[in-house]
Amino acid sequence: MTRVFSGIQPTGEPHIGNYFGAMRNYVRLGEQYGQDAIYCIVDLHAPTNPLAYDKATLARLTFEMALANMAVGLDPQKVVFFVQSQVREHAELGWMFTLSTPVGELERMTQYKDKAGKLESIPAGLLMYPVLQAADILLYKADTVPVGEDQVQHIELAREIARRFNHHYGDTFPEPKAVLEKAALRVPGVDGNAKMSKSKGESSTIGLLEPVESIWAKIRPAPTDPARVRRTDPGNPDICLIFDYHKLFSDDATILEVNEGCRTAGIGCIDCKKRLMVGIERELTPIQARAADLRAHPDTVLGGLEHGAERARAIAAPVMDEVRSKMGFLGAA
Ligand code: TYM
Repeated sequence: MTRVFSGIQPTGEPHIGNYFGAMRNYVRLGEQYGQDAIYCIVDLHAPTNPLAYDKATLARLTFEMALANMAVGLDPQKVVFFVQSQVREHAELGWMFTLSTPVGELERMTQYKDKAGKLESIPAGLLMYPVLQAADILLYKADTVPVGEDQVQHIELAREIARRFNHHYGDTFPEPKAVLEKAALRVPGVDGNAKMSKSKGESSTIGLLEPVESIWAKIRPAPTDPARVRRTDPGNPDICLIFDYHKLFSDDATILEVNEGCRTAGIGCIDCKKRLMVGIERELTPIQARAADLRAHPDTVLGGLEHGAERARAIAAPVMDEVRSKMGFLGAA
């Protein structure tokens, strides 16, 4: 049996890296697996990074992230879609896993090193972050985890945690596997950064729900092949950010045309960027229209999440009973 789980943090506006790398995959797998596709806005993870957390905006960003996923096509009546803090078992299983996870393994996590390096005082929760992530997945005994490339190391750790638990307490959890969207392993930032990231701020991201005029204001000055100083200089699309975006947004004919045009100096960078905007508008306009509709009906979003949390609890509670019992806690069935 396949069971899918994935999570997304409410630490900022969702961007096209989240969309192509993960959210689109959620919808596709949701259509395939229905109630065995479980998706979560991981709000307990968000405060682990003090630079990305603000209690004044957490609830709004959580709502916005849910709304964006629904606008992309996640249907809370068909899949299980909920907010992590509304299902207490996540924190409980996370704690159980901290008991047998070596600190050394956590200190090796690349994302931890990146984030910790920017902080004067490192919250213990930041180090424990991937343990909670393992709990998210294993609480539902999920084996399939759609994510972008940056999460692969965390999923490897979740496999290790499952293996260790099974070894100590008997076969309980599957070893989950990351499912990557090959075309969008790591969508680059519009500022030229290697990875588009919520935490790098608005100058790096193209928001999924961002107005097209505002997207154009970022695309227009975005870096291209530095060898193309003049319009007549040929360029190399393979090292151009805009060509990376064309591969995500444009149809095959346009991709061929700009590829050829760039190499022969047949098309200038601004025209190439304008062609890209056509694809961006085509892809994002319907999503933004659905988002506007949902924003006018917030109860649809909140009701969907409530329904999802109930469904999630019903799956999580017996798994947690099993874990307590296997670990030898008093009163556990
Ligand atoms: P988060 O919130 O940073 O990102 C959500 C998803 O978007 C993917 N992603 C990208 N993919 C391609 N290119 C990019 N530039 C890009 N930026 C982000 C991420 O890989 C991710 O799939 N730790 C997770 C949240 C989490 C989780 C989980 C994921 C918590 N528990 C359990 C899976 C299973 C995170 O911070 O994702």
